Amino acid sequence: MRNFVSRRASGAKRSAIRELLKLTEKPDIISFAGGLPAPETFPHDEFAEIAADELRGHYENVLQYGLTEGSLTLRRAVIDWLRPHGLDLTTEQLLVTTASQQGIDLLSKAFIDPGDVIFCEAPTYLAALQTFSLFEADKIAIPMDDDGMNLDILEKEIQEARASGKTLKAIYTIPDFQNPSGITMSLEKRTRLLAIAKREDLLIFEDDPYGQLRFAGDPLPSIRSMDDEGRVILLLTLSKVLAAGLRLAIMVADNPLMDVLVRVKQASDLCSSKLTQHIAARYIKEYGMEEHLESIRHCYRAKRNAMIAALEKYMPADEGITWTRPEGGLFLWVRLPEGIDTEEMFPRAIEQKVAYVIGNAFYTDGRGRNEMRLSFSLGTEEEIEEGIRRLAQVVRAEIASKKKQAVLS
Ligand SMILES: Cc1ncc(COP(=O)(O)O)c(C=O)c1O
Repeated sequence: MRNFVSRRASGAKRSAIRELLKLTEKPDIISFAGGLPAPETFPHDEFAEIAADELRGHYENVLQYGLTEGSLTLRRAVIDWLRPHGLDLTTEQLLVTTASQQGIDLLSKAFIDPGDVIFCEAPTYLAALQTFSLFEADKIAIPMDDDGMNLDILEKEIQEARASGKTLKAIYTIPDFQNPSGITMSLEKRTRLLAIAKREDLLIFEDDPYGQLRFAGDPLPSIRSMDDEGRVILLLTLSKVLAAGLRLAIMVADNPLMDVLVRVKQASDLCSSKLTQHIAARYIKEYGMEEHLESIRHCYRAKRNAMIAALEKYMPADEGITWTRPEGGLFLWVRLPEGIDTEEMFPRAIEQKVAYVIGNAFYTDGRGRNEMRLSFSLGTEEEIEEGIRRLAQVVRAEIASKKKQAVLS
């Protein structure tokens, strides 16, 4: 047989994380690897009641095809939920997608031609990089500071890319409790990023799965809420605030961009599941999001505190090991001394029955070898402490062995 695989698909790589995650699924491993929301936060009983009612009472509607734009009940429920959070939206500005991953796919299909430049944070969300690669985007990595993307470097990269004749399209950012670093972009940077996008005529893809999961500090406005031109497209998934299995997200965009996105979505899957849209809509309207979110924040705050306390207790002091202190979300980012390679160390961590994601997987340019992402969402506080104890032991042994090698060479 001939090779039938398209040029586009043959360039697609398997996710390094998915391959490593297979190793972490063994029993008795404490895994900080997956970015999964905590199952105890899923409102499953309420969903069961709503689903039974919908399926018995309204099956001819919820088991039918729906509008490509998304069910009006869900869009209206989301509008009411988001209004107090600084987003005053109309139903025409919302597109329901089959979760944010489809949103990223639609943005790429709608706006990226091969070779077009998209500026991404480094490190960033791996599956967004995979999608941008599938659409043959030229991904330019912009390093992260403690308060978000380094905008001086962004400006420099924009000028260089322009000078070399490239077509610049968009900036992809995860401003709140970023995956993977846990870093939040400051208000000053949000304002300046939008000003840069205006001046350079770029779109901003603002991917915000974690903004509602703030458990410390003061909320910051979304970049979208500061945009008066419709150049920021916001993705708000329900995966982390309700349940990942609903496969639902809300994309916020204005015309004429929205019109293109709706057409692209229609060609992709006609519509998202009406049943899960109705479950989400009725949960938001009838049970209320604020109380639910408060209990999720409480859950992740305790887990984040347990992880930071364990890092402080067990990680060797005076070796220059640092970690971020996220004010929300699911992740923190650990930087080990230069020369320690978290990929090389990984099998030894698995031997000690603890897992993480290697830092390198979140960069496009080979950086991050001494870094790793830890997710604190799964497991009890006791398991988190035990996992960090094991990880610290592995790190200690790795540092000692590197020092020994240095002496011998
Ligand atoms: C930054 C970011 N964007 C998008 C997604 C995709 O989420 P979903 O497709 O479940 O909405 C994730 C999931 O972890 C994420 O971290």
